Amino acid sequence: MSTPKVLITRKWPVSVEKKLQMLYDVTLNEDDHPMTADELRDALQHYDAVCPAVCDSLPADVINIDNKRCKILANFGVGYNHIDIEAAKQQALIVTNTPGVLTESTADIAMTLLLMSARRGAEGDRLVRAKQWRGWCPTHMMSSDVTGATLGLIGFGRIAQAMARKAHHGFGMKILYFKPSPADPEIVENLNATRCDNIEELLQHSDYVSLHCPGGETTRHLINEARLKLMKPTAHLINTARGDVVDSQALIKALQEKTIAGAGLDVYEGEPNVDEGFLALDNVSLLPHLGSATIATRTAMGGKVLNNLTAFFSGQPLPDRVV
Ligand code: DGY
Repeated sequence: MSTPKVLITRKWPVSVEKKLQMLYDVTLNEDDHPMTADELRDALQHYDAVCPAVCDSLPADVINIDNKRCKILANFGVGYNHIDIEAAKQQALIVTNTPGVLTESTADIAMTLLLMSARRGAEGDRLVRAKQWRGWCPTHMMSSDVTGATLGLIGFGRIAQAMARKAHHGFGMKILYFKPSPADPEIVENLNATRCDNIEELLQHSDYVSLHCPGGETTRHLINEARLKLMKPTAHLINTARGDVVDSQALIKALQEKTIAGAGLDVYEGEPNVDEGFLALDNVSLLPHLGSATIATRTAMGGKVLNNLTAFFSGQPLPDRVV
């Protein structure tokens, strides 16, 4: 068999790009531009493997094309809601992802946003830069405590559990979680975590709510106007999962009317566009999808893609097969 042709849709850490180049005939996206639907269709016709990421949209009308050469989408990331998995399945197109290696860095960003939102970190930074700080004063920019407060996690997979560990063991937070079935009793005991029977109960009792569900149709607008109304007026919402889990307009309204105290967002509906409504508000902290953006994590993600490709091209079982 001739050397497989592999396309990486965006720039990766150079060390992993080089490893890949030693094994395959690799095309890099040198100027790192987001690929268009036509470029992705073309890639599926001309490469044996395509390595997309969350910034590449692969709906059915991109996947269902004639004369496809590509047999595997080796995704650079754990989430795969940007790929139409049903269409991939029907087309016998394998999809792999990169679970495990980005757990801690993403949980760190969730904690960062929780702390920024609770302690008004971004707002304080803006004030200092604008030269509007008039000096220390006993009532200036008072905020909410994190230590000892209650953190409610919606979804309780790897990233949520890592956040719960940091919050519970580092900040003495009380942990509530909701997931349809009870979590591993050993994990629950270690975190002294309590399972809520439903999302509503969790929202009513949490000081901080952090979202850890997959995104896509099944969780679209899981957090809507009615559910936001159940949160305490002192509570904060943290989203490092996917933008579409939250109804942005409902969240903007809740923040404007201060029916909740604040929010910390790393992901957005229709990103990289961020709704102007958020930009105008002081009580929301905004990050540009940085969850997994450490050098070590992004390098490890590339390593996982490489392992999946190596297994695929040598006929071995795929370590991280989605479909
Ligand atoms: C993922 O892996 O799904 C992140 O959102 C991108 O790193």
